[in-house]
Amino acid sequence: MFNYLHGGNFERAMERYDISLDEIIDFSANINPLGISPKIKEVLVKNIDQLSCYPDPECKEAKKEISRYFKIDYENIILGNGSTELIYLIVQTLKAKKVLIPIPTFCEYERALNNNNVSINFYKLKEKQEFLISINEIISQLVGIDLVFLCNPNNPTGTFLPRKEMLTLVKEIQRRKIFLVLDEAFIDLHEEESFVKEVKNYDHLIILRSLTKFFGLPGLRIGFGVSSSELIKKLEVQKIPWGVNYLAQIAVREVLRDEKFISKSRFFLLKEKEFLYRELSNIKGLKAYKPSANFVFLKLLGNISSEKLKEQLAKKGILIRDCSNFRGLEKEKFIRIAVRTRKENLKLLEQLKIILM
Ligand SMILES: Cc1ncc(COP(=O)(O)O)c(C=O)c1O
Repeated sequence: MFNYLHGGNFERAMERYDISLDEIIDFSANINPLGISPKIKEVLVKNIDQLSCYPDPECKEAKKEISRYFKIDYENIILGNGSTELIYLIVQTLKAKKVLIPIPTFCEYERALNNNNVSINFYKLKEKQEFLISINEIISQLVGIDLVFLCNPNNPTGTFLPRKEMLTLVKEIQRRKIFLVLDEAFIDLHEEESFVKEVKNYDHLIILRSLTKFFGLPGLRIGFGVSSSELIKKLEVQKIPWGVNYLAQIAVREVLRDEKFISKSRFFLLKEKEFLYRELSNIKGLKAYKPSANFVFLKLLGNISSEKLKEQLAKKGILIRDCSNFRGLEKEKFIRIAVRTRKENLKLLEQLKIILM
């Protein structure tokens, strides 16, 4: 069987724990718990008949909308079937020889590089430094490197490198003519920190953004990349046609105009993230890391393993992410929990207290 590496796998959970779909509360994938905006639902249903047509291979209208909303130029944007497609596309197009990846982090960078037989140097973030990236350490590892993957906020640790420090790194990487892929899939709560507008100044910078998490549309598959127009052209040449389906393109156009949904989601997630972090910090047997995105990273301090905890919670319909398969993390010790609604968060907290205290 294909070894699926991520959270959010309902099919497997239902089969393994003998639970039904409506019993599941999914804390294992970091998706907006407010669900799909009602406006999007309406538009998708209205346009369902358009599935009998091929989607626009250039995604023109969706790109125009991204350009308007994020205030970036049209020719600096590429759309993908989720930002995951773009990770693979970038690796295929850049043909890097040696890549640096700070770990633990999102595993698809490594998979894409392995599929293309690219050599990887891993830079292990230190638990005693709370898994924070040290700019000096990363700069000291750049010799012989032609591409760096950096996830900010980082999945699974939730750590965040503020704009000022990131700028030092971006400048140094640019000076050395190394490509930097900055994955901002989880930056929506801190939009002002994003580097999407910086691609004008740094032609070796590629920003990845996802529209599946904050906008709650993982099943639709939609993400985008921002880079210099030259690099975007190269990526477009390599891309499979019609990779972004018709409904996904429609959704982009609508979701970025849904100001009400955006501000409600941002306000809700910022507040609920703090609540969940505070409550988790008070549970004996857990160390909670300060979150910067819509999930909390936790270390289990007692004897229970992450696998055992995951199983016990799953039997109650609560899915969490066991982080044992993240490279660079001690196995059986770390978990990741998405921020969900207050009612769901309280249910999780109650069960955690029963199991751990
Ligand atoms: C850090 C990070 N980047 C990118 C992705 C891919 O997201 P998508 O392909 O749904 O846009 C994920 C998914 O979990 C992720 O965690």
